[in-house]
Amino acid sequence: MTQQVKITDTILRDAHQSQIATRMTTEQMLPVLETLDHAGFESLEVWGGATFDSCLRYLNEDPWERLRTIRKHVKNTKLQMLLRGQNLLGYKHYSDDVVDAFIQKSIENGIDVIRCFDALNDLRNLKQSVDSINKYGGHAQMTICYTISDIHTDEYYVELVKEMEKMGAHSICVKDMAGILTPARASTLIKALKEVTKLPIHVHTHATSGIAEMTYLKAVEAGADVIDTANSSFAGGTSQPSTEAMVIVLRELGYQVDVSLEDCQEVSEYFKGVKESFIESGVFNPKVLETDPNTLIYQVPGGMISNLLSQLKDAKQLDKFEQVLAEVPKVREEMGYPPLVTPLSQMVGTQAVMNVLSGERYKLIPNEIKDYVKGYYGKSPGPISEEVRQKVIGNDTDVITVRPADLLKPSLEQFEIESKAFATSMEDVLSYALFPQIATPFLKKKKDPFYDIPEQNVTIII
Ligand code: CO
Repeated sequence: MTQQVKITDTILRDAHQSQIATRMTTEQMLPVLETLDHAGFESLEVWGGATFDSCLRYLNEDPWERLRTIRKHVKNTKLQMLLRGQNLLGYKHYSDDVVDAFIQKSIENGIDVIRCFDALNDLRNLKQSVDSINKYGGHAQMTICYTISDIHTDEYYVELVKEMEKMGAHSICVKDMAGILTPARASTLIKALKEVTKLPIHVHTHATSGIAEMTYLKAVEAGADVIDTANSSFAGGTSQPSTEAMVIVLRELGYQVDVSLEDCQEVSEYFKGVKESFIESGVFNPKVLETDPNTLIYQVPGGMISNLLSQLKDAKQLDKFEQVLAEVPKVREEMGYPPLVTPLSQMVGTQAVMNVLSGERYKLIPNEIKDYVKGYYGKSPGPISEEVRQKVIGNDTDVITVRPADLLKPSLEQFEIESKAFATSMEDVLSYALFPQIATPFLKKKKDPFYDIPEQNVTIII
């Protein structure tokens, strides 16, 4: 029987998040939504990640309204979002009742598939999400954050997937946010996972280091069911490989791919025009299309390398770059090999910079690293070095071993009280709970169009 390969297109989320800092507006998406719906994708990734934040912060859009609008035009294809487990779309743990309400509303407003991940692959941080997704009839796609270390073996990931299946996952995603999954490793990893689960396996990578198409081919050969690609208009570089290219190549190799190339071309013709406007305004920086083998050489995500460079530049210590780069894997090992994904990538990077610039390792320690060592982010994948633990928190006994959210009291009601004056729906309350600083003025303005106009102007209008 011909092996079928399905495609999730990321043009409406990860592609523009990776290439133009999530600045595409709903209006710019509208003209091709029916075509995307018709193209035959397994799902369309449209929400979550940074889209919610970007709508409120930069685009003056209600993210919930965006979701409802897309749902109105995409009637048949599943809509997918990316969720940071207990952190939802933010950077801290939320109490279980907020997680539950957020997932309920996401599904009610049109989401079918929720891809949820935890930066540490601590499954306790995904439990409430999975339970709520199942409770409200959504599709729970549980995610492995792929990283490389002595402890992140194929067997390690196999054990994670077995647990995920028990927890109620409907599918599994291997998420390679840094673009470091090589073709050879994709092959052994996907084969190993296929041996222990019948759940569909999705693979997500980025084209940053120039190997993504090869990785997808090997993953598909090993039995991956779905790959994430981006319409060619915003493909390649920091984004995903091009949908059209993968469809053509896979078909020629004998795989069945039920995606309409004509529809993809129509979408790409349209979005090329949109991209042109982002090039003109300077939002699209051609650097995002560069191939960066450093990611593979140092096993450090591209975004982290540029962060380190800018920290060193600010400190006028650019000559210490090689030293800092050598310090990163040391700190990471001492911290129990956390995957270098937000927020751990920033935390490990900052600690490495401090270790080098202060001239003494762990002389200066950011609070986030202290909290991490105390267990407030979850369980580290490997053991934290005892010597470093002493240096970071001394004999502080305030170390937790429970799920961090177990320490949080229900807080939805408090958010409702705080936002009472301007929130008109539970969706508004949740926007406020996630991003209080930016959601407050946005919601006040939505309720009263004259909200931020200085008073004397209002008088003139009257
Ligand atoms: Co991604």
